[in-house]
Amino acid sequence: MSNVRVEQINLHTLYQGDCLKIIDDGLIKENSVDCIITDPPYFSKRVFTKDNWESEIAFKPETWQKMLKVLKDGGLLLSFGAAKNFYKVANALDNAGFEIRDTILWVYKNGMPKSAHSKVEGFEKYASLLRPAYEAIILARKPFKGSLSENVKKNGTGLLNVEDTRIGKAKYKDVKANYSESSVFGKRMVHAKEGAVGRYPSNIIVDDSDIYLSRYFMVCKATKEEKNLYVENTHNTVKPLELMRYLVKLLGVKNAVILDPFMGSGSTGVAVIQENDTNAANYKFIGVELENSNFEIALKRIAGSLNQGNHK
Ligand SMILES: C[S@@+](CC[C@H](N)C(=O)[O-])C[C@H]1O[C@@H](n2cnc3c(N)ncnc32)[C@H](O)[C@@H]1O
Repeated sequence: MSNVRVEQINLHTLYQGDCLKIIDDGLIKENSVDCIITDPPYFSKRVFTKDNWESEIAFKPETWQKMLKVLKDGGLLLSFGAAKNFYKVANALDNAGFEIRDTILWVYKNGMPKSAHSKVEGFEKYASLLRPAYEAIILARKPFKGSLSENVKKNGTGLLNVEDTRIGKAKYKDVKANYSESSVFGKRMVHAKEGAVGRYPSNIIVDDSDIYLSRYFMVCKATKEEKNLYVENTHNTVKPLELMRYLVKLLGVKNAVILDPFMGSGSTGVAVIQENDTNAANYKFIGVELENSNFEIALKRIAGSLNQGNHK
């Protein structure tokens, strides 16, 4: 049995340690988790910062086999992945026994180029990489026996909440929420009108309110203010809460147990709590983080966000 720190905050359980060991030790029960939403290390070898937690753990089928063990049959999983190697994560999930269902793209404007221009004479106009403008989010499902309807009746898993995440309805900020018909590049575009139920959620999420993108869910990168709301957050890869709340809502059936085995500074956990406050969802969050310093940040953010009500 590994020496693991456990913190219980209200309905939510946070473990500090290696998620693989924690599952092996039976701390998270088999077939007990409704869905997994996670942002694992994806071996990005950042140029400017060296995160010593970076590893190839997400590229190994054995990692995802452990996640299969704790998921209920039909349980859904969302995993972020970088443009250059999310296929390795998808491949590992596939080899572990998950069924790949989709890949969502989160498209954003403000990615920084990760490569400088060449200094080689005659090649000064060349560089080795494009500017990143999207992240992938792989959607996978644990196989189940029988039909989907039978599984849903038995386990309550396997389906997406496509009503509460309709575009327009799902927006928390008032960004050009309602549109009418318009003409863009000579094409007739139809947008959600005031009072409409909103557009069916798609596998693209954007961070821009350009009119031709208005049919997609829109969310920007996390601001400094948001990251540091409850504690100075030094984590390098903090996901925006609006995005995480959208994903939680998409996967979470009421009362769901939601696991993030690589929780970092705890964004999934804060999103779960905000959804519980706003929509009385009664989700239970289980978060695991390897590094003590990140765990402390996650703990403070999650505890700080409880009963705050300072979100829409
Ligand atoms: C990409 S970050 C997640 C960041 C998170 N989305 C956020 O908003 O703060 C991945 C995290 O996984 C943690 N990690 C790496 N290996 C782990 C393991 N075996 N068990 C648990 N956590 C691990 C790292 O320490 C890191 O904080």
